Amino acid sequence: MKIAWGITGAGHLLEESVNMLYELSKDHEVTVLLSGAGEEVLKMYGLFNKVKSITGGYYRELVREDDQRFSFPMTGRFSLGKYDVLVVSPTTSNTIGKIVNGIADTLITNAVAQAGKGGVKTCIIPVDLESGAVETVLPSKLELADCQNCQPCQAAAACPEDAINPGVEIDLLKCIGCGTCQIACPYGAVTGGKRITIHMRDIDIENTHKLYDFDGVDVFGHPDEISGMF
Ligand SMILES: Cc1cc2nc3c(=O)[nH]c(=O)nc-3n(C[C@H](O)[C@H](O)[C@H](O)COP(=O)(O)O)c2cc1C
Ligand code: SF4
Ligand code: SF4
Repeated sequence: MKIAWGITGAGHLLEESVNMLYELSKDHEVTVLLSGAGEEVLKMYGLFNKVKSITGGYYRELVREDDQRFSFPMTGRFSLGKYDVLVVSPTTSNTIGKIVNGIADTLITNAVAQAGKGGVKTCIIPVDLESGAVETVLPSKLELADCQNCQPCQAAAACPEDAINPGVEIDLLKCIGCGTCQIACPYGAVTGGKRITIHMRDIDIENTHKLYDFDGVDVFGHPDEISGMF
């Protein structure tokens, strides 16, 4: 099958999405579409290279939002029915909000709109599914309470991207999630994959529920749930 897989800028369900994408890429042609934020968070969580490793030729390419400018010419392939299915996982509350309001001004929302016009089945895995609290995972984080302000900072010295401002924070837009700093810091002051609890907003849950009424769109709670389709 020809699968188009969109990744938006959510840390929640990101690793699970990349793992499913990786598995499917072994037996199917997968084009990966990255929202601008999707590309950034993939790097922060150290998952960009895994996604890149599965991409290559025409139907296995990596489509970046920045390269598609303002009109997203690539999404014309959906109106022409060139893909069997479009999966968007994980899908941020931002992207869901736009989709349910008919907005198509980003690579992923435009792909969903064109898939609808081209009769391409669309599967969406929202990160904001039900009301209440959800446990999610953070990228690398400098824990100031544990930081000893060493001179020099060994974590900063070891960072290949110069992303650590010692005693202040990690610049996540430079960070590639390699984890070197966690090993280098003798005081355990850098964490990666720390779990925190967040609370869903009503507006985001309402938007997700509107998706259930969309023609041609199926909503799933977890990326693993789509494996049965292929
Ligand atoms: C580390 C990190 C994790 C994030 N995780 C989420 C998330 O789980 N869910 C979400 O809706 N937004 C999350 N965001 C915010 C989105 O990236 C942001 O709203 C962005 O504008 C979404 O753009 P997109 O929908 O075009 O991908 C996260 C941002 C960062 C920096
Ligand atoms: S090595 Fe660790 S404890 Fe020392 S300044 Fe750097 S982050 Fe802080
Ligand atoms: S070493 Fe630098 S790039 Fe690697 S996880 Fe730490 S801050 Fe990010």
